[in-house]
Amino acid sequence: MSKLTRSQAAAHREACSLVELDRDLDEGEKLFVLEHYQESTSTTQSADGAFFTPLGLARDMRIEVVGTRILDLGAGIGHLAFTCRNQWDQANGEPARELVCVERNPEFVRVGMKVVPEATWWCGDLLRVHREPVRPFDTVISNPPFGTATRNADAPEYRGPRFEYHVIAVAAHVARHGVFLIPQSLAPFHYSGQQGMQHDRADAEYERFHTSTGIGLEANCGIDTSYYLDQWHHPMIPTEIVTCDFTDSAVARRRSRATLTPTTPVFARPRWPDTAAR
Ligand SMILES: C[S@@+](CC[C@H](N)C(=O)[O-])C[C@H]1O[C@@H](n2cnc3c(N)ncnc32)[C@H](O)[C@@H]1O
Repeated sequence: MSKLTRSQAAAHREACSLVELDRDLDEGEKLFVLEHYQESTSTTQSADGAFFTPLGLARDMRIEVVGTRILDLGAGIGHLAFTCRNQWDQANGEPARELVCVERNPEFVRVGMKVVPEATWWCGDLLRVHREPVRPFDTVISNPPFGTATRNADAPEYRGPRFEYHVIAVAAHVARHGVFLIPQSLAPFHYSGQQGMQHDRADAEYERFHTSTGIGLEANCGIDTSYYLDQWHHPMIPTEIVTCDFTDSAVARRRSRATLTPTTPVFARPRWPDTAAR
């Protein structure tokens, strides 16, 4: 990953100081941490594949989120979960959304618990989440690691090389709806940065994924992710936001055939600093 500039390094240090404070952060301080905490500084090997979503793009993804129980897979320090909070709806009498964040890097979990303390944080492997005794979610939202990131498990119906598809196949077991940021080359359509919508861009690996899982990756409400290309902390490839309907009968049929071997619980529930993970 690229070296930080002086101002990036200074802002990162300030973000770390905020995280160390022995009190809750206010909204402005949380936003500062989300904008300036640099993922490349993590000393944990599992920082590989960590590219935090620019907040503007995270807010756009939120438009596609439905329901009250939301799961963020590979949550980093919580950019997506942060934008899924529904304080304004609560002012109108709506219940608070239940947010669950799964992230395997304990350094990120520690920061995330400070900026999204209302979420439940699980430190563990997102590819095992469907083996946990969890109540179903309304939406899974995720900006997963891209490419052939190291995997310790396969999703139930997909055995191919694409980490992103494994995350989506796992999500189909725990939620009714999905919103994912993935490389544009993995989506069956191209829209972002293009003149218009280009259909029929699916490659052979997508067809294998679709056939084995029944999951279709659908377009979103018109979000062009190329607008945010210069807002990432690091150079970023073209991406698309894809949405999934996991209640589709083809998905449900294949899901019901999957045999899941129960495992011992894999998620550590950290406490930081005195905020109990709920
Ligand atoms: C591309 S980053 C996105 C972070 C955050 N969701 C965001 O949008 O800013 C992917 C995250 O997934 C985490 N990750 C990678 N492999 C994982 C795994 N097997 N289980 C849980 N988290 C994982 C990385 O540590 C990283 O924080």
